[in-house]
Amino acid sequence: MSDEQITNGGTTVFNLGECRYESPLRIPQFIEEGSGILYDVRLEDLQSSLRAKKEIVAFENAGPRKRIYFNPSETTAAIVTCGGICPGINDVIKSLVVELIDQYGVKRVLGIRYGYEGLIPDYGHRPMELTPLSVSTITHRGGTLLGTSRGLQDPERMVDTLVQNNIDILFTIGGDGTLRGAAAIFDVIRKRDLKISVIGIPKTIDNDIDLIDRTFGFETAVAEATKAVQSAYAEATSFRNGIGLVRVMGRDSGFIAAFAALASNVADFVLVPEVPFVLRGESGLLNRIHAKFTEKRYAVIVVAEGAGQEFFGGGGAVGSQTVNREFGNIGHLLKDEISGYFRELDVPINMKYIDPSYIIRSVEASADDAVFCLMLAQNAVHGGMSGKSGIMVGKWNSFFTFVPIGLAVRKRKRIDPNGYLWSIVREATGQGDLI
Ligand code: F6P
Repeated sequence: MSDEQITNGGTTVFNLGECRYESPLRIPQFIEEGSGILYDVRLEDLQSSLRAKKEIVAFENAGPRKRIYFNPSETTAAIVTCGGICPGINDVIKSLVVELIDQYGVKRVLGIRYGYEGLIPDYGHRPMELTPLSVSTITHRGGTLLGTSRGLQDPERMVDTLVQNNIDILFTIGGDGTLRGAAAIFDVIRKRDLKISVIGIPKTIDNDIDLIDRTFGFETAVAEATKAVQSAYAEATSFRNGIGLVRVMGRDSGFIAAFAALASNVADFVLVPEVPFVLRGESGLLNRIHAKFTEKRYAVIVVAEGAGQEFFGGGGAVGSQTVNREFGNIGHLLKDEISGYFRELDVPINMKYIDPSYIIRSVEASADDAVFCLMLAQNAVHGGMSGKSGIMVGKWNSFFTFVPIGLAVRKRKRIDPNGYLWSIVREATGQGDLI
């Protein structure tokens, strides 16, 4: 991480205006304006920045402010959920509603139906009124109470809808594409000089949003994916020359595959979009599986869906927008290639292919994710009520932060092939380079 890429100018949060109201929250501690969370917490980096008199880059510390921008009794908030589902969305919705209405006393909370489509009247999705009572039991359900859709809509028309419905704060729950949509809405709001706050709450099991420790739902998805890897291990080890092959989600970033492999600690090979591999040749995957048979008579392989896309002639798994590009099925390709290779060699194998697919993202949030969702939602409300706009709420170095959305979406978070995570995957699996 280097300070060269990010400056304090880039981390500065936009405020709608003077905070004229006292917060109704009865809590012992408020966050002072100007409180920051260091971008880089490594001592040697900090010391060298101080020596070189370089600015110390920080994100704005999230949390409740003593004085707020919106008068709660006159405030209408809206919540929209976009993109693929993810464990914990309903937890976030519930905590937003409870914090807004029960804690701040806002007048009204609207649930926008079916993603950004719900902000375009032509679709005919009418918003639903949300109350603490109406959301009281939704947390034990996967999916989203509000419905979702993929694809960006015209930001000018979406802002028209916000204005027509007197919406003061819009909470957008979604991944990279949703945050880009929120940034586009924010741009229109600024251009028209409207006093509407836009707060993004990053959601995706892929964990590919930059400048946050993790997205909500990721931990739950990893736990579910880990069960699949453990099943593959049980199958593979129960047969001579057994192969357990598991394909998990992860389009551009292989975090689920890497963490599920580490959590189960039984994988021999982890294949992710960020690290190229070859099938044939001395150190190719097929030959290396063969070597595992000599060594221990089985092999477990975990592959992220975006890995090896170059085998399909698509030019690799590079950036997708809100509507996902169609990928070749790397699980099926590997299954066929491995079977064909050992057939040619006349080596009998027992291959068990598992694709947990949507199961890992449609379950309810784990306890840890549920708490994380609640904290994210409360901080999102604090940000909105204090008039911050165009921000994403996240967690960085164990503190909750407000990060300008434009900064967060400038690149995706991906596994660094030379970084710590990939090095521990290599150590745990012993897979080395497959190239
Ligand atoms: O973005 C999250 C994600 O789970 C990806 O890993 C996956 O490729 C995608 O959603 C699939 O979603 P859908 O089938 O709904 O487009």
